[in-house]
Amino acid sequence: MCIHLKVNHVKKFRIFKLLLFLFFWSMLFQCENTKKQNSQNNQLTNILSLQIANDLAYAMNLQSLTKIQIGSMPDHSPGSENDTQPMINLGNKLFRDKNLSSNQIQACITCHPLDGRSAGMDRQSTSRGTFGQLGRRNTPTLLNIGFSSIIFWDGRRSNLYDQAIDPFVNPLEMSLTSESELIQRIQNDTSYAVFFSNAFPEDPNINLHNVRIAISAFERSLVSKSRFDDFVNGNLLALNRQELDGLNLFIDIGCLNCHSGFSMGGNNFAKLESPSLYNPNDFGKFEVSGNTNDRYVFKIPSLRNVSLTPPYFHDGSVSTLKEAVERMNAYKLNRNLRSSEIEILIAFLKTLSDKTKSN
Ligand code: HEC
Ligand code: HEC
Repeated sequence: MCIHLKVNHVKKFRIFKLLLFLFFWSMLFQCENTKKQNSQNNQLTNILSLQIANDLAYAMNLQSLTKIQIGSMPDHSPGSENDTQPMINLGNKLFRDKNLSSNQIQACITCHPLDGRSAGMDRQSTSRGTFGQLGRRNTPTLLNIGFSSIIFWDGRRSNLYDQAIDPFVNPLEMSLTSESELIQRIQNDTSYAVFFSNAFPEDPNINLHNVRIAISAFERSLVSKSRFDDFVNGNLLALNRQELDGLNLFIDIGCLNCHSGFSMGGNNFAKLESPSLYNPNDFGKFEVSGNTNDRYVFKIPSLRNVSLTPPYFHDGSVSTLKEAVERMNAYKLNRNLRSSEIEILIAFLKTLSDKTKSN
């Protein structure tokens, strides 16, 4: 906390110096101008300098508030301290291997595409499994999944290690008949031996434990930073005025009541406020816990990369970001959103996109 305040203090001092500089610069400019230019030009320069000073002060205050209310994303996911590059390489290979689906046409990467501009999900309302069977829920992005303590919309897993084998044997996904079929298929592919021995030099066995470690190490490596992070980490010019206004409103109107922390979600559940608008046959967490209070309780999704991952909500029923944000009016906001405000919230949400992918 002390260090945090110190850093803030130093930054504020720097900004103060910058503002002072701008002020003197405008005075100097003004003097020069009185000699050379007419008074109309003078006025314009004054207004511009004032505007710049105002904008910088606004950005600076908002930056301090954001650090406290939202925080900044670390460079590495928790638990990645022991992940090695060879483990990540093996996880990456497993993630892309179509041979590990029942009919050899689907891999994790099919539903969670990551290459190029893809942001970790396939933009389908609900994905189809390897035989074309229609899934039940919208595929979440895997970017920044290492920061999420709740796994799956209903939270039936709490960490990536436990989750890693599920999709291979899920009848709605890759549809292998058993975990041993998975191990058999990996063993039959001779190209894996060197990957396992590099990843686990002391125990290069092809077993479920090592597969889990490798896939979760790969997933933890999917850290994605955005312009918003540049802003929080010091660059006052990273966001434009409309985006700053959106951020201000996001904090002010109570989106953080649910989409909390630097991931803006992913670590809490909420009960759907209007379950009638959704697929009524999906009871969410209740299906896992059996507790009637958990009916229609779902994971609050992280909003990172949200503009790259339509359609929205656990059932993929909402196709635009505009409608998704509008729907939040039914949730516990501090007050109702005006329609003009939705646009600036969207401008802010777009700043949460991975810088290597485009909106
Ligand atoms: C057929 C499409 C499909 C395939 C193939 C697939 N997934 Fe998924 N994935 C989904 C869907 C749909 C969900 C959400 C399911 C739910 O919440 O009940 C999901 C959820 C996840 C989550 C949790 C995300 C979150 O935000 O909670 C992780 C992690 C994940 N998948 C990893 C994988 C891995 C690893 C593989 C390959 C072994 C894989 N997936 C293969 C569709 C797929
Ligand atoms: C009371 C809790 C709560 C509040 C407050 C809240 N949200 Fe949400 N939000 C949720 C839940 C829960 C979902 C997922 C709903 C679902 O899957 O059916 C969600 C989903 C979303 C989605 C879609 C994400 C996706 O990947 O599907 C967006 C966008 C969103 N919220 C934006 C906002 C904004 C902007 C605010 C503030 C104006 C806000 N939310 C306030 C709980 C909340």
